[in-house]
Amino acid sequence: MDDIVLNKIIDLKNKQNAVILSHFYQRPEIQDVADFIGDSLELSRKAAETNADVIVFCGVHFMAETASILSPDKKVLLPNASAGCPMADMADYEGLLKLKEEYPDAAVVSYVNTTADVKTLSDICCTSANAIKVVSSIPPNREIIFVPDKNLGHYVEKMTGRKMILWQGYCNTHNKLTAEEVILTIENHPEAKIVAHPECKEEVLELADGIFSTSGMINYVGESDAKEFIICTEEGIIHQLEKRFPNKSFFIPSNKLVCPNMKKTRIEDIVYSLENMKPEVKVPDDIREMAIIPIKRMLEIK
Ligand code: 13P
Ligand code: SF4
Repeated sequence: MDDIVLNKIIDLKNKQNAVILSHFYQRPEIQDVADFIGDSLELSRKAAETNADVIVFCGVHFMAETASILSPDKKVLLPNASAGCPMADMADYEGLLKLKEEYPDAAVVSYVNTTADVKTLSDICCTSANAIKVVSSIPPNREIIFVPDKNLGHYVEKMTGRKMILWQGYCNTHNKLTAEEVILTIENHPEAKIVAHPECKEEVLELADGIFSTSGMINYVGESDAKEFIICTEEGIIHQLEKRFPNKSFFIPSNKLVCPNMKKTRIEDIVYSLENMKPEVKVPDDIREMAIIPIKRMLEIK
C-alpha cells in the first residue's frame, strides 16, 4: 500500500480516535493496516474492551453487529455495507421461533455467525473457538438447538457426545471443500500436517490432524515442529501464516476457499468510512438488550 494512503488512514484514525479490527479472512492489505487481527471470539472481546470511540470493523455484518451490541456508545463502521455472511442469513427469526415452539425446553446455542434478531432467541452464543466448552456448559439433561452451522454442530456433537437439534445451515465457502481435494493435496505434500476449520464437512474433518478456529490454527502452526501445512479454511489466513512463520510452507487444498463477502472490503472503503463516519451498523436498543445476554454468557466462559 502506498505511504500516502497509509498516513492518511493513520491521521484519520487519530482524529476520530478509531481502532481498526480485522478478521483473518480479509485481504492482506486490510490485515496489514489493522490495529488488531483475530478470530471471531477475539474480535468480540476486543470490541467489548477497546477505549476507542470508533470501531472500524473489517469483517462481515454479524461481526459489526456484535460489536455494536457490546459497545452501544461507540460508533461501529462496516466499511463495505454489503459484506454479509450467507450462513448467518440461513437462520431466520420466524423459523427459529417455530423450532423453539416444537422443543420448548431446549436451550438455544447460536453460533456468533447469526443476526442480532436470532441472538434475541438464544440462550448462549459460541464461536468455533469455544463451541465445545459452551455446549458442555449446558446441563446434560437439557435438549439443545444448535444454529445455524450443521457442520460445526455435528463436530461438536462428536466431541461432546451430546445429541443436538441441528439447524441445516452451512458456510458456502467451507462446505465446498471435498475430501478428494484434500487427499490430492496430501499426495503432493505427504509430510504436511492438515488443519481444518470446523465449518468444513465431516469428510474433510476426518482427514485433519487438528481442528481449530482461525486463531487456533495460527497457534497450532507456531507450536508444531512440522514445516509444511495444508490449511483447510478461507485463504486469507495464509497471509498471516506466511508473515508470522516465514520458514514454513502452507498449501490451500482448493481455489474455492475464498469468501466473497470477506473480500469485499477495500482500503478505499476504510478511508471513506473514516472520513464520513459511515456506513454505520447500529443495533436498536430493544434488540440489543436481548441479544447481549447470550453474547455476555459466552464471553464469561473461559
Ligand atoms: P473464526 O475466525 O472464529 O474461526 O470464524 C470463522 C468464520 O467463518 C468467520 O466468519
Ligand atoms: Fe460466513 Fe463462511 Fe464467509 Fe465466514 S467464511 S463470513 S461463515 S460465508
